Amino acid sequence: MHSSHFKDQRKPSIVILDFGSQYSELIARRVRETNVYSLVMSYTTSAEVLQEIAPKGIILSGGPASVYSKDAPVCDPLIWNLGIPVLGVCYGMQLMVKQLGGEVEAASGKAEYGKASLSIDNPKGLLENIIDGSVMWMSHGDSVNTLPDGFIRLAHTSNTLEAAIALFDKQLFGVQFHPEVIHSSQGIDIIRNFVYKICTCKPDWTTNTFIDEAIAQVRKQVGKKRVLLALSGGVDSSTLAFLLHKAIGDQLTCMFIDQGFMRKGEPEFLMNFFDKKFDINVEYINARSRFINKLLGIKDPEEKRKIIGAEFIRVFEEESNRLGPFDYLAQGTLYPDVIESAGTNLDPKTGERVAVKIKSHHNVGGLPKDLQFKLVEPLRRLFKDEVRKVGKALGLPDEIVRRHPFPGPGLAIRILGEVTSEKLNCLRDADFIVRDEIRKAGLYHEIWQAFAVLLPVCSVGVMGDKRTYAWPIVIRCVSSEDGMTADWSHLPYELLENLSNRIVNEVEGVNRVVLDITSKPPGTIEWE
Ligand code: XMP
Repeated sequence: MHSSHFKDQRKPSIVILDFGSQYSELIARRVRETNVYSLVMSYTTSAEVLQEIAPKGIILSGGPASVYSKDAPVCDPLIWNLGIPVLGVCYGMQLMVKQLGGEVEAASGKAEYGKASLSIDNPKGLLENIIDGSVMWMSHGDSVNTLPDGFIRLAHTSNTLEAAIALFDKQLFGVQFHPEVIHSSQGIDIIRNFVYKICTCKPDWTTNTFIDEAIAQVRKQVGKKRVLLALSGGVDSSTLAFLLHKAIGDQLTCMFIDQGFMRKGEPEFLMNFFDKKFDINVEYINARSRFINKLLGIKDPEEKRKIIGAEFIRVFEEESNRLGPFDYLAQGTLYPDVIESAGTNLDPKTGERVAVKIKSHHNVGGLPKDLQFKLVEPLRRLFKDEVRKVGKALGLPDEIVRRHPFPGPGLAIRILGEVTSEKLNCLRDADFIVRDEIRKAGLYHEIWQAFAVLLPVCSVGVMGDKRTYAWPIVIRCVSSEDGMTADWSHLPYELLENLSNRIVNEVEGVNRVVLDITSKPPGTIEWE
């Protein structure tokens, strides 16, 4: 049976059919923000499969195509007759109109991008309690010009006559704007109207129900077998450790590999926290000398990453053999790792990405063939913000739940060129000061990442009566939503002054501090 995939798992209350929009994931997140469980599935998902999953509603995403183009993605036309309410967004609405006998007009100077004020013609159902004139975000070339039989207009804008439409008999709705984006001021209220009023969903997707279900599932999956987890101290692996500990107690062994590139005090903090305070089995593996020896003389960034990744796997393999045998490997795979926005790559029966790869940036990717584990991935249905909530509910402190991202290869890719112990010590001290001052200024949570970079060049300075010839430290602070694009943070001068003073005074080997004011693109966040 198609829905067997969902046998042990919660079925989605709302299915989002993905037509390749960059916003499909965002729609899923917005629906979940209303405590209703949603999954993204391919637009090719058949009406038969949808009938088996029996969601309470379907949302058709936007997409880059025009409904008139030759390869325009189309959904199964039987979905209009399933008796399940449908909301078409942008392309999704145009497809609904076209398939049901209306007309869509190709872009003809009437394209509309950006904010538009919504004039409400009929507030029933979808637009209940939406303020007349509220701002919605538009991004379309084509527009609907003739509605199919039975449809009525719910709202218009100055450029778009059919901005929101409905066929009440069949519970079919369409909006030309994007209610999922933040610029649509009451967009979330429209989504709420759809899921609660039209689809009659219950707000039953909560952190606590997730935790209960995940624990039951993990217990069922692993039985009495042993599970290994590579703990990095990041929010995903830490939340996973807490969740698994709660589910299977001592059947869980965490392995914390200290490659020597962590930040100041971090290994000690992690061991104290997990092992001592919460009595979670953590094996501390001191592999510092192995890693730094492997990097001797290596200057090329890509080569450094490869060497670190390969050495991580070697240590992991040796240590898991020593501590094992283990039947399962736990991974902090998240929902965005499983789905991909391009609809064609989603399995139309399960909504999962067709080729699911082992998460590579945890450095466990590419495990040797003879080291085969079965995988335990209880977070694979969650978005990052949901993981944070789960972590917090399980008792993880803000220090872990809200910490900045930190790359797997750690400080090694923040020392340009060859990595030495001396440079590592220097960078570790400077990095500590950067984060310390940012915290004191109350800016830690407003910044995506704040760190120091060490440049392997020397410049002349003077300290006291002595001439110095030492390294500069770069301060790199960026704001970002997802790490894909970023802007440099406009830090107050006073903070910059403190940073500069403290770093040159307190950090041995540094006589100059500079500020990186490059956005991404063209720069990357990390320097290597
Ligand atoms: P870039 O430097 O590409 O970084 O702008 C984007 C985000 O990814 C993080 N990053 C990594 N994370 N392993 C990781 O786990 C890595 O090798 C790695 N390289 C970059 C970076 O810190 C930023 O958040």
